[in-house]
Amino acid sequence: MGSSPKAVAVGCLLAVIVVSGIIALILAAVGVKGVYLPPGTKYGMVFDAGSSHTALYIYQWPADKENGTGIVSQAEACTVQGPGISSYAENPANAGASLRACLDKAMTIIPVEQQRETPTYLGATAGMRLLREQNSTKADLVFAEVSKTIQQYPVDFRGARILTGNEEGSFGWITINYLLETLVKENLTSQQISHPCYPKGYEENVTAAALYDSPCVPAPVAHDPSQILMVRGTGAPAECRSAIQKLFNFTACGANRTCGFNGVYQPPGHGQFFAFSGFYYTFYFLNLTNGQPLSVINATIWGFCTKGWKELQASFPQEESHSRLHNYCPSAFYILTLLHEGYKFDEQMWSSIHFRQQAADTDIGWALGYVLNLTNMIPAEAPEQVKGQQRGLWAATIFFIVLTAAAALLAILIQCLWNPT
Ligand SMILES: *[C@@H]1O[C@H](CO)[C@@H](O)[C@H](O)[C@H]1NC(C)=O
Ligand SMILES: *[C@@H]1O[C@H](CO)[C@@H](O)[C@H](O)[C@H]1NC(C)=O
Ligand SMILES: *[C@@H]1O[C@H](CO)[C@@H](O)[C@H](O)[C@H]1NC(C)=O
Ligand SMILES: *[C@@H]1O[C@H](CO)[C@@H](O)[C@H](O)[C@H]1NC(C)=O
Ligand SMILES: *[C@@H]1O[C@H](CO)[C@@H](O)[C@H](O)[C@H]1NC(C)=O
Repeated sequence: MGSSPKAVAVGCLLAVIVVSGIIALILAAVGVKGVYLPPGTKYGMVFDAGSSHTALYIYQWPADKENGTGIVSQAEACTVQGPGISSYAENPANAGASLRACLDKAMTIIPVEQQRETPTYLGATAGMRLLREQNSTKADLVFAEVSKTIQQYPVDFRGARILTGNEEGSFGWITINYLLETLVKENLTSQQISHPCYPKGYEENVTAAALYDSPCVPAPVAHDPSQILMVRGTGAPAECRSAIQKLFNFTACGANRTCGFNGVYQPPGHGQFFAFSGFYYTFYFLNLTNGQPLSVINATIWGFCTKGWKELQASFPQEESHSRLHNYCPSAFYILTLLHEGYKFDEQMWSSIHFRQQAADTDIGWALGYVLNLTNMIPAEAPEQVKGQQRGLWAATIFFIVLTAAAALLAILIQCLWNPT
């Protein structure tokens, strides 16, 4: 008996069904890959409660952050109106209230669904250190009030504390080096170099020292030039200068130049040095942040300090705060003495000091280093994985599924309806 045309047709269709079905199955299995949805943005906030004012820094980074990459950026810096929180010792409730405007602003920047998981820290420096020394009860009351206010906002508040001078210096150092690494990476990316290796000879220049802290300067004056209020006013620069020199104890380290950063001797002639915060503000006021040589800096500071108080007020009518105008002279002498006599920056080395407020659009200070260190403990959010396929494979899979279905349908139709005689 020969095969009937119907049997042949059905047999062929069955073969098509089997082959096409298997191909569709294989494609479906092979084509599926892990596909990552774009990561979200995470936020972190730090209140930098200094002696003269408080600032709130808001940082952001991609949620799938990698270890050690320069991805944290400053989303916003909000300056709290009014003086530093230590000035509210007699009226602690107002210290809390003063933070509200910046917290309100932060709530408009951080998306609502992110707020509850935004780690928020408050770090206080020289002003609160002094207050705690004078009366720790008062310091505690101020902290209680600022904490109470922050807790009224839907953020992950992780406490208010006083940073030691060493921590301030260390976190400043972390900040500046993190930002420099970011800058170098951006430069490399813009040159289409795909691997993060530094050009030869760059490494030694990349690690920058933050000019902030010296083991040779007695605490607590060491950490905040604005705290040297004992040398009041201007008009007697020689006295001012010698009074400031008395604050330093260079005998322990001066002669054999073992002064250094955090106890590590930093030989002159290497690296770049970044002076920020109070250093920057004082020199910026005196218009000395443009890389002027040491001789010009010396002459400018002496010139400023020799001016009479009346003349000074007339020259800077925009400085509404007299106490600040009072402080620029001693503060400038402090910085000059620390850098020139403490760290031994000479005429030639002076050019490696950069007075900077910002790098990579981010304020230089301890705050970023603080949040970097603390958020390392926050595990990276596992990116959401979904099943997905590449477009071409997906189209092929659909084609074979449709072919299988069509062949099956045809086979059924033939089997049931085609009746050749
Ligand atoms: C410290 O401050 C508290 C609260 O203002 C006050 O009651 C106390 O007398 C102060 N102590 C000293 C030693 O001044
Ligand atoms: C980045 O490149 C520019 C120009 O090429 C250079 O001036 C700048 O110093 C570089 N920045 C860093 C951090 O290397
Ligand atoms: C790095 O510093 C050395 C001297 O310490 C200098 O010769 C070199 O030009 C610097 N490199 C860059 C990229 O700045
Ligand atoms: C950073 O945090 C770690 C704990 O994770 C701590 O041991 C370390 O001392 C911190 N770094 C600084 C500079 O404080
Ligand atoms: C960071 O690096 C450490 C050690 O290299 C590793 O144990 C840790 O899992 C890493 N964390 C993240 C978030 O990648």
